[in-house]
Amino acid sequence: MTDEVLGIDVGGSSVKAGLVDLKAGRLTGELISAPTPRPSTPVAVTGVLAGLAARLPAGAGRVGVAFPSVIKDGTAYSAANIDAAWLGTNGAALASRALARPVLFLNDADAAGLAEMRFGSGRGCTGTVVMLTFGTGIGTALFTGGKLFPNSELGHLELHGMDAEKWASAQVRSAQGLDFPAWSARVNDYLLAMHKLLWPDVFILGGAVSERFAEFAPLLRSPAELRPAYFAGQAGVVGAALAAAEA
Ligand code: BGC
Repeated sequence: MTDEVLGIDVGGSSVKAGLVDLKAGRLTGELISAPTPRPSTPVAVTGVLAGLAARLPAGAGRVGVAFPSVIKDGTAYSAANIDAAWLGTNGAALASRALARPVLFLNDADAAGLAEMRFGSGRGCTGTVVMLTFGTGIGTALFTGGKLFPNSELGHLELHGMDAEKWASAQVRSAQGLDFPAWSARVNDYLLAMHKLLWPDVFILGGAVSERFAEFAPLLRSPAELRPAYFAGQAGVVGAALAAAEA
């Protein structure tokens, strides 16, 4: 395993990148970002990936890219919050050509969960852990015995007749101007629905909103233990680099 690897996280509003020290489990320098292009087509997003990579030291080995879609062998199979042209596109191959380096693609929530399990709030947890990322959508990553069950996509669980992420994501909170009591009530519905299906020991709550965990944690109710993500909005970048180094 190499020591410093470039991680990139493609989100609904911004693309973030940083060089990750794999031994320490943290960024070695600054986290840089660029707006997610609109439309977020494969060509446009790949251009942003190349632009960000050019601004940072190369790092070693593969580049890891956390992407908001089901990813199997580098190919995207869903496109809830990204341009539909991604469906069936091999993002890893496209980005490898644009960056002239090998690239690993994986689901963004899976990447965030890997970072939390290895170096963050899930460290040492051997039971069932559900990582939730609240952003443009809701991302989920499932772990038991420390092993990832990839591409779980439970942000699309039906809640109140719609996709759960259309009810309780961080974007819905800002778009509908929900205060923390109103949003937390929605998150509680979601946590309960997830609990009935999965019976986790721990939920890790991530995404940039988790930086404000102290403000809404007293409003949350769950039979499982709730922990804020240690890496908050940086988890995808760190986890993408980890996954790339271990692929
Ligand atoms: C996507 C997932 C992604 C999540 C968070 C959902 O809309 O379907 O693949 O992990 O958003 O970005």
